[in-house]
Order: sequence, then structure tokens, then C-alpha cells
Amino acid sequence: MRIYIEKDYDAMSRRAAQVIAAEITHNPSCVLGLATGSTPEGAYKYLVDWHKKGCLSFKDVRSVNLDEYKGLEPTHDQSYRYFMQFHLFDHVDIDPRNTRVPDGLTKDPAAHCAEYDAYIRSLGYVDLQLLGVGRNGHIGFNEPGDCFVKETHVVDLAESTIDANARFFATRDDVPKQAISMGMGAIMGAKKVLLAASGAEKADAILGCVCGPITPRCPASILQLHPNVVIVVDEAAGSKLKAAGVPVCG
Ligand code: F6R
Repeated sequence: MRIYIEKDYDAMSRRAAQVIAAEITHNPSCVLGLATGSTPEGAYKYLVDWHKKGCLSFKDVRSVNLDEYKGLEPTHDQSYRYFMQFHLFDHVDIDPRNTRVPDGLTKDPAAHCAEYDAYIRSLGYVDLQLLGVGRNGHIGFNEPGDCFVKETHVVDLAESTIDANARFFATRDDVPKQAISMGMGAIMGAKKVLLAASGAEKADAILGCVCGPITPRCPASILQLHPNVVIVVDEAAGSKLKAAGVPVCG
């Protein structure tokens, strides 16, 4: 793992955006695995800015998103499809036909999940997978549990995830209780993984991810088995790594 500890959210976002932009520049038709939530918003702003300045094109990029709330239509302002349009897709030259987000309204979740995995396989898997991390160590919506789940699947969101995401909804009751999430097979099948995090409330999850026991109780810990992981955090999220003496790049 290569670990970068940046001074704040903006520096963390810029570093994450640089890793993504480098991937696109190196391989213009790359497959990006994309995340939503507060963490990548800043990185997407940088990517949009660099695109508008003419430095970066998404023309041939293909993308697959990690997850979507079950029961939210794509036009709902808290759906992850809406998030991606709002923060990235509507502002760059990506071909809309090359963007995929799980369908939260699918009538046949099992078939939809199998198709999602088949699509990822048909692309030759993801070249660069962007991840945030939950306070409980989830990646995508692979919540802590007894085993790692390989395939895309329907997830019951953990109470702590519902609590954390209630800030985006009018009331906690409005937060969907289930989501469709890529499984660990597609995440670990990515050629490169970029995990970003900011804020002190992520410090334990980052410590568990980097040097805790590899266990489905902390899903991000599986990344210790991946050969090509870049972790970009701000000082607050990286504070426990520093205290534990973990070597970092910057
Ligand atoms: C979102 C996702 C989640 C988030 C995680 C952190 O697509 O897969 O794992 O990355 O819940 O969310 P934020 O960034 O809002 O703290």
C-alpha cells in the first residue's frame, strides 16, 4: 500500500483527483470504478475543473459505480445516479451510455446483480477503483459481517451507516434501509484501488484497513491482500496511522 497523508480535505481531494487523472491520461479508455458520498465530491470538482480547462477528456472512459440505494429512482436527489450526474457526469464529456450505476428500482435484484457483475467482467474488470470508507470500515456497501461477499448483492445497511447518511435526508426514517452494492470480487479484481478518507471519525477505519486483522468485521481490511492500493487521507483520518508509526509517502 502507498499511503499519502495530506493536510486537509482539499489537499486530499487534489491528490485523489491527480491519481484518477493520471489513470485517464495513461489509458484514455480506462474503466473507472466510482464512489459517491462526501469524500469524493472534492476530487470530482478538480476533475471537472481540469476537464473545463481542456486538460482532461472522459470521451472514451467507461465507469461503473459501487452502489445505489434500493427503492430510490434515479431522479431522486439522494440517489447515487443523481449524485454522479450532479457532481461529475453532467460536466464532462463522458458518453452517458458508458456510465453504469446499479438500478435501485430493479424488479429482479438477483438478475440485476448478476448482470452487473457480468458487465464488469465484460469490461475486463475495473482499471482504477475509487473507494470511500464507512466509519465501520465498509467499502461500497459491504457492511461488517461474518464473511466477505464476492458478488454484487442486496445489502441491509448497518444502523451506523443509516445514522451516518441521515445527514443527507430530511429525517432518519427517509434513509433507505437497503442498497445494491458491488461485492468484493469486483473491488479486489480492480487493477488498482484508490481509497480516500477525511475526518477524525474515519481514523479507526483507516487504521483497521491498513494494519488491523484481515476480517469481514472490518471489510476495508481485505485491501491488505490487494497488490496495488493507494490510500489518500487527510491528517485527521490518518492520525492513528501516524501514532502507530505506519510508513507513509507524504
Ligand atoms: C459510496 C460508498 C460508501 C461511502 C462511505 C463513506 O458510494 O460506497 O462506501 O464511500 O459510506 O461515505 P462518505 O464519503 O459520505 O463519508
